Amino acid sequence: MNRFWKDYPVLFHELNQVKDLIKKNISSREKYLEEAILPMVDGGGKMLRPAFLLLSSKFGEPDPEKIYNIAAVIEMLHMATLIHDDIIDDARLRRGSETVQYKYGKEYAVYIGDFLFCQCINMLANYDYNMEDLKNISKALTKICMGEITQYNLRYAKHASLRNYIRIISGKTAALFALSFYTGANEAKCNELISKSLGKIGYNAGMAFQIIDDILDYDGNTEQLGKSALRDLKRGYYTLPLILALEKDKDGRLLKLIDNKDLSDEETKEIIELVNLYNGTSRAKEVADRYTEKAIARIEKLPNCESKDIIRSTVINLLKRDY
Ligand code: IPE
Ligand code: IPE
Ligand code: MG
Ligand code: MG
Repeated sequence: MNRFWKDYPVLFHELNQVKDLIKKNISSREKYLEEAILPMVDGGGKMLRPAFLLLSSKFGEPDPEKIYNIAAVIEMLHMATLIHDDIIDDARLRRGSETVQYKYGKEYAVYIGDFLFCQCINMLANYDYNMEDLKNISKALTKICMGEITQYNLRYAKHASLRNYIRIISGKTAALFALSFYTGANEAKCNELISKSLGKIGYNAGMAFQIIDDILDYDGNTEQLGKSALRDLKRGYYTLPLILALEKDKDGRLLKLIDNKDLSDEETKEIIELVNLYNGTSRAKEVADRYTEKAIARIEKLPNCESKDIIRSTVINLLKRDY
């Protein structure tokens, strides 16, 4: 988290308060619950969603206690989806530590993710949040779930289309970014125009964010990422770099290579070489750039304030990140 927010001491301090709230809400009689989740709270999570929620709230008049609580909820929902995502992906690393599923087993990881979801409902029931915001949270969770299911259904689908890819990432990632931006503003009683515009900024930033995540899976470094690279290909998730490379695969070599579900290291290496040869990653980056430009165009129209500047530079930095 430090690397992302160190230049903004007020926000950094607020995010630490959000972290403390998360810690308070994961304490339980069942000791291992807390023990399993704590490394995720203290690990290298970027805390983007709560940060965007807090930044958006500053366009209105937030009640600090209520806003920190809902920011903690958004991060905990995200953590729960990651714990479950790591079970499905059989992932070993998350935020630089061993995943819950790897360390405690898949059964516990299911329960621990569920526990986080339950705690989120409890936390939301502690304050009188706007009914519209509560409905939006449940709708966003449905979208994440649908995005993940569609992605799973389309594993190893060799003719994965760009349309399907966009649908998947809108659901599994952009929905929660849009929610964070919109809810921060709406809970702070911003006018509808500003809240909606912030929601759209979140959507576009979220789309760019997931495309970069998918690029990093191809050319990122496990240590920097804090999670294993090259997982998507091995799991049969054909993301944008590969989809775009396949368009140039006139001799069918790439298509033939991915036909094999049990890729050797050699084959994986060759796939990456072909994806690069066909400019899969650089063209995917251009698509991420376009979503970012859409977000920036809307950011420019927001009222001038410090939050606007921080949102602008963060959204731009998200394109350049290496983790
Ligand atoms: C990981 O999200 C899941 C994706 C949507 C790619 P982040 O990259 O925001 O994960 P943390 O919160 O920093 O660990
Ligand atoms: C995001 O997708 C997962 C969720 C929205 C839960 P990824 O599967 O790409 O996330 P990482 O790469 O495991 O963090
Ligand atoms: Mg995953
Ligand atoms: Mg990923």
